[in-house]
Amino acid sequence: MSDSHGIGVDTRYIDAYRRSLADPAGFWGEQAQALQWTRRWDRVLDDSAAPLYRWFSGGRLNTCYNALDRHVENGRAEQTALIYDSPLTGAVEHFTYRALRDAVALFAGALAANGVRHGDRVVIYMPVVPQTLIAMLACARIGAVHSVVFGGFAAMELAKRIDDAKPRVVVSASCGIEPGRVVLYKPLLDEALQIAQHKLERCIVLQRPQVRAALQAGRDLDWNEAVAAAQPAACADTAATDPLYILYTSGTTGKPKGVVRDHGGHAVALQFSMRAVYDIHPGEVFWAMSDVGWAVGHSYMVYAPLLIGATSVMYEGKPVGTPDAAAFWRVIAQHRVKALFTAPTAFRAIKKDDPRGELIAGHDLSSLKTLFLAGERCDPDTIAWAQDKLQVPVVDHWWQTETGWPVAANCRGLQPMPIKPGSATVPVPGYDVQVLDEVGAPVPAGTIGNIVIKLPMPPGTLPTLWHNDAGYISTYLTRYPGYYLTGDAGYIDDDAYVWVMSRIDDIINVAGHRLSTGAMEEVLAGHADVAECAVIGVADALKGQLPVGLVVLKAGVQRPHAEIVQELVLRVREQIGAVAAFKQATIVARLPKTRSGKVLRATMRAIADGRSYNAPATIDDPNILPEISQALEKLGLTKPT
Ligand code: COA
Ligand code: AMP
Repeated sequence: MSDSHGIGVDTRYIDAYRRSLADPAGFWGEQAQALQWTRRWDRVLDDSAAPLYRWFSGGRLNTCYNALDRHVENGRAEQTALIYDSPLTGAVEHFTYRALRDAVALFAGALAANGVRHGDRVVIYMPVVPQTLIAMLACARIGAVHSVVFGGFAAMELAKRIDDAKPRVVVSASCGIEPGRVVLYKPLLDEALQIAQHKLERCIVLQRPQVRAALQAGRDLDWNEAVAAAQPAACADTAATDPLYILYTSGTTGKPKGVVRDHGGHAVALQFSMRAVYDIHPGEVFWAMSDVGWAVGHSYMVYAPLLIGATSVMYEGKPVGTPDAAAFWRVIAQHRVKALFTAPTAFRAIKKDDPRGELIAGHDLSSLKTLFLAGERCDPDTIAWAQDKLQVPVVDHWWQTETGWPVAANCRGLQPMPIKPGSATVPVPGYDVQVLDEVGAPVPAGTIGNIVIKLPMPPGTLPTLWHNDAGYISTYLTRYPGYYLTGDAGYIDDDAYVWVMSRIDDIINVAGHRLSTGAMEEVLAGHADVAECAVIGVADALKGQLPVGLVVLKAGVQRPHAEIVQELVLRVREQIGAVAAFKQATIVARLPKTRSGKVLRATMRAIADGRSYNAPATIDDPNILPEISQALEKLGLTKPT
């Protein structure tokens, strides 16, 4: 990184950044002092099994103790730890640190009484309710490994995760609530347990007042009964390198990747990021508007705010429609939120319903100091709109489930930097971000290439994939030895600002949700009438991208196309889930391919988005492209968004 990026005489960021790379052990060892350890580490950075690195090896600490008990013992017992605000049910509940600690200890006792031991996995399939956070922290308390599965996934996806994580217990709820409909979780869980090879003996089910689920005698236990019978559990003595959780994320195939997070590095990195990136301190209110099932929910709704003794807002609702586009302003004003973190798509939804921001009037937003956006590329228009309406800095920052915390950001707590709309600003301390060309050479400033992170990555990033070191190495560490492949393409400009432009693989981003087109293609290909297919992510003004299927039927299939398309849409909804937002498909005679048979997805994407394109020189038959264009036009595509 050059010195000459015009940020004035303030060198707090660059000093911290340089030190984090030159002396990672010194830098992170200092950060670790902010936590309570039961045994000091032997080595801050353990490179003995490189390229697999471990942080704080030999050290011991309990994440739940550091997130709850420590604050109760140090004068924050009566401070609010969690505010649950649910416009979908009308509930607003406050939990003090003491109340949350007690609830977590009791549920931890319930898990232990139901056979969960140190190292056992617990799958949590729940909506955004306090009990989800309680179940996660309860696992951390007894050294069990949680794996939260987002509620918008269907039974098949849940089953895949159950088979990989092999949990001793599943914790679920009778239902989730979406605007206008109640999503019955328990039948989905029952179906997943039918499909899964892995068999388990116990499910603990939260019966929400909206719906009571049927419980299977002998296997299912009502949450309240489990808790009533339990004794509070003490904090286990966990190794810093023990797994805290597994979070499955989309890869390029239908098999999700189990990202592992450890106890020590995770706690150190999150508490650092809370202060350095988000400028949030003990006692302040932070709102990560996401779902607990995503990385944002894990890191910034559950763990990070509690690790530093702040107050976390958990919101069960949408940016619009619950009841209207003023929902965010109501929550910020009511709970005195200092910083809000959400995906750009949420602001696009608000902007669409209330373009002039008229609904802001009458809400006291004086507590709000910063808006953080991540999860997808943020269009400069949305940043400008939010900045104009809220009159606070709007900070785009970039990270992934794998890293667990920001890779590039405007570190508001270290040294605020000028905002360049469209850029995620600069690499966060700990991350040596570089851009390489196809053969692994660094590209000049301003040139697009593959964004990589030089190893070792900082604490809190994934040490490996669950029971799959080989998969971790082949997916992320092999393309460029010595570097982690982010899967994103972009560039670094002359001021060392990072610009993340697109994915280099078949992952798409729908409303801030990361989805695999490969997984959708597998589902379409399983339909009896389908010979081959491609799913592409086309530009969408609200959700960023939407998946569209192009399908070739087997010879001789005579059924009406509309009927087949309807079946395909239903199939993706049933096998992946509503969250895939797969609602458009078209039947084509052929797919455009290279002479070696590779489907030209990028060319089809350009056609669908109304961008200019050149048919690749390697195309087998250029005459197919007008047919594709016509088919996409019938879906209302091919015009620039
Ligand atoms: N359980 C069950 N179903 C769910 C669900 C859950 N937890 N979450 C979403 N779904 C369903 C939705 O009801 C919808 O179903 P539908 O096809 O019947 O309408 C479908 O999955 C797609 O959901 P989504 O893409 O979220 O679309 P939406 O129209 O409901 O909402 C936004 C669009 C932009 C308002 C919403 O995505 C949003 O607020 N996003 C910003 C925050 C965020 O979630 N970020 C993610 C990571 S930071
Ligand atoms: P997830 O693992 O679901 O958090 O998705 C991570 C992916 O979302 C990244 O690899 C990027 O492709 C994309 N992404 C996240 N934040 C940003 C951002 N600020 N700018 C551009 N892309 C982003």
